[in-house]
Amino acid sequence: MKNLPIDHMLLISCLLLAAAAAPNPWVQTLTKGNKNITKFHFYVHNLEAGPNTTVYRVANASITSTSPTKFGLVNVLDDRVTAEPDINSEQVARVQGTVSFTDLHAKAIAMTANFYITSGEFNNSTLSVSGRIPLTEPVREIPVIGGTSAFRLARGYAVTSYYSFDSATGSSVLEYKIYVIAHSHEVVWTGA
Ligand SMILES: *[C@@H]1O[C@H](CO)[C@@H](O)[C@H](O)[C@H]1NC(C)=O
Ligand SMILES: *[C@@H]1O[C@H](CO)[C@@H](O)[C@H](O)[C@H]1NC(C)=O
Ligand SMILES: *[C@@H]1O[C@H](CO)[C@@H](O)[C@H](O)[C@H]1NC(C)=O
Ligand SMILES: *[C@@H]1O[C@H](CO)[C@@H](O)[C@H](O)[C@H]1NC(C)=O
Ligand SMILES: *[C@@H]1O[C@H](CO)[C@@H](O)[C@H](O)[C@H]1NC(C)=O
Repeated sequence: MKNLPIDHMLLISCLLLAAAAAPNPWVQTLTKGNKNITKFHFYVHNLEAGPNTTVYRVANASITSTSPTKFGLVNVLDDRVTAEPDINSEQVARVQGTVSFTDLHAKAIAMTANFYITSGEFNNSTLSVSGRIPLTEPVREIPVIGGTSAFRLARGYAVTSYYSFDSATGSSVLEYKIYVIAHSHEVVWTGA
């Protein structure tokens, strides 16, 4: 860089600083052949107490109160999903669904939920996830089983881990990375 005029060096420095300061995008798409591969990276706020609670218990089984794994407990949730770990950062989606404690022997849940995208180029599209989440594992994986709108015929998987956990309230921030492949499909049903 030593032969560049000083104004060019300033410009390059500014560009480097801007690149360093820019937050990671919460959604990125790569196109390979007839496939789009989209990666989401965002944070789910699972609030179990307080004025902004987003998780509610709807049912207990007769054994839930004595079960070491809370067997039979069913919660519904509508969690805010943000681009950054801060709950007040941009909302990019909601995740809405049910979580059931379905393992008699281990702390594991069955989760069935829809990520409803509320921002950006995929605004109003949904991604459906359904799978088993072992609560004691630091990193969990859950399949993406489909979607709507931009994610018709989508397949993929989500990887999630705790970003933070508040033991006083049971509330947590979960970091999610979701990888989704959407294939192009020829318009066979013209006019339908
Ligand atoms: C609840 O949400 C409102 C609106 O986003 C916010 O102003 C308030 O600080 C939140 N309360 C708590 C306890 O987080
Ligand atoms: C679940 O069980 C607990 C303790 O037995 C009880 O306090 C709570 O009200 C029950 N909740 C529902 C939704 O049945
Ligand atoms: C997303 O779509 C909704 C309608 O479903 C619209 O009200 C909203 O303005 C859109 N937001 C963005 C960021 O495009
Ligand atoms: C949102 O997407 C659904 C399909 O998933 C579509 O039926 C609906 O019209 C869309 N709403 C808006 C406001 O774009
Ligand atoms: C891939 O994404 C581009 C840009 O959003 C879109 O025009 C194209 O239809 C998508 N292709 C597939 C296979 O979904």
